[in-house]
Amino acid sequence: MATTDDLFKNIISHAKEYGFIFPSSEIYDGLSAVYDYGQYGVELKKNLRDYWWKAMVQTNPDIVGIDAAIFMHPTTWKASGHVDAFNDPLIDNKDSKKRYRADVLIEEHVAKIEDKIRKEVEKAAKRFENFDEAMFLSTNARVLEYRQQADKINARFKEALEGGNLTEVRQIIIDLEIVCPVSGSRNWTEVRQFNLMFSTQLGSVTDDAATIYLRPETAQGIFVNFLNVQKTGRMKIPFGIAQTGKAFRNEIVARQFIFRMREFEQMEMQYFVKPGTEMEWYNHWKEKRFNWHLSLGLGAERYRFHDHLKLAHYANAACDIEFRFPFGFKELEGIHSRTDFDLSNHEKYSGKKLRYFDTEQNTSYIPYVVETSIGLDRLFLAVLSTAYNEETLNDGSQRTVLNIPPFLAPIKCAVLPLLKKDGLPEVAQNIFNTLRFSYQCHYDEKDAIGKRYRRNDAIGTPFCITVDHQTLTDNTVTLRHRDSMEQQRIGIKELKAILDKELALENILAKL
Ligand code: GAP
Repeated sequence: MATTDDLFKNIISHAKEYGFIFPSSEIYDGLSAVYDYGQYGVELKKNLRDYWWKAMVQTNPDIVGIDAAIFMHPTTWKASGHVDAFNDPLIDNKDSKKRYRADVLIEEHVAKIEDKIRKEVEKAAKRFENFDEAMFLSTNARVLEYRQQADKINARFKEALEGGNLTEVRQIIIDLEIVCPVSGSRNWTEVRQFNLMFSTQLGSVTDDAATIYLRPETAQGIFVNFLNVQKTGRMKIPFGIAQTGKAFRNEIVARQFIFRMREFEQMEMQYFVKPGTEMEWYNHWKEKRFNWHLSLGLGAERYRFHDHLKLAHYANAACDIEFRFPFGFKELEGIHSRTDFDLSNHEKYSGKKLRYFDTEQNTSYIPYVVETSIGLDRLFLAVLSTAYNEETLNDGSQRTVLNIPPFLAPIKCAVLPLLKKDGLPEVAQNIFNTLRFSYQCHYDEKDAIGKRYRRNDAIGTPFCITVDHQTLTDNTVTLRHRDSMEQQRIGIKELKAILDKELALENILAKL
């Protein structure tokens, strides 16, 4: 049985072997935490982006989309607080010379304690009939001790972060006896702040005024266009603006494949509301986004909420939707109540009014904002790692299959002539030519049919259509289903209607 580490390694090599993800500029040994999407990866990523866009923009009449430039006026980042506060606390181990995020070291320590609590609960649930988890958590001595430990560390850590006390952050690491996983030593440097923005020069002038940044989030492109969209779209509050696009962060610790990258893609939506109603909308979007994740069908047990201990410089409430990746529960999406921080600051720095005129109340105000922000690459990893399965079949043979939800699969159906002769390829080509205008299909006549099925299982193709000699006499084909491997005999004429039904999005979207 593969360990979790082995499984994750297998997923990474599968992604490369089957054209989903390649290390960037691999012929030069790659570039740390930067990846390229291959021929199947790009399709899956596009389908995920499209599904988000449909659920966010197409089906919500109060949300519109934009596509702002990556480069923005440098004052944008002063106003947003990123120049002064978009920092991670970093710490080096003097023996291994490895660099870590001090906050992550502490959070991982707390996560281990939380894990102990979860294990105690699981053990007790197996032991007692009519197990009452809430009662157990509030009475079991060992669990209470773990709970106290975790709460104490969290409180101390929160205070240190809020006070900007980096000496205390280091002291917490020392007191918790956290060791460097590489050297095993506790020989730590001081904790320092490190700004995550990449900067570059605009044009040929090299003075300070020409320094611009690669955007670290897409959200600011929405804020600076708030009035443009509101006025030209005649939008009434509450309304949202959505955007997908690249963001860049000079991450200190970039590990875990595409989980933490230096160049990645975000899908963000800023929802503009009347001040005082933001908590209502914050709860609304928490629920709506959670349901969207459930609609992907990856399993409810893989998700949980995590409230932020330390609020970002712009937020008055914030939580993450965490996903159980192969390396544990980690942030997949953030939901933030950003107050009027961004719009007020842009007003201040630009000298331009960014107010909404409420015609019913005859007053103008700076709206409050609730943001939903998800990383497309993380979502890709969530789908890929859940879909990846190594199966032993009834006849003892092995197959590796990607059980990607059919509507997201890179290739929806493969058309395969059983043999490369007797007129079978011509019939298969005709079928391919009718389906390819509706769906991303592929045609393949190389190798034995079993091998072609395996290849399609490995890239997650939900349907294989096989043309054989019977097709020539009665116009029927076999339709093979990826997950069950069942084969159905059906008429060529029925194919399109079956695929339409199996891949339809309407019912899924209507439930959101
Ligand atoms: N506008 C708010 C914002 O950017 P964030 O929590 O810093 O908030 C939002 O980022 C989402 O972007 C995260 O939940 C994550 O999915 C994704 N993300 C952030 N940094 C990332 C990175 N280095 N690599 C991949 N995805 C990242």
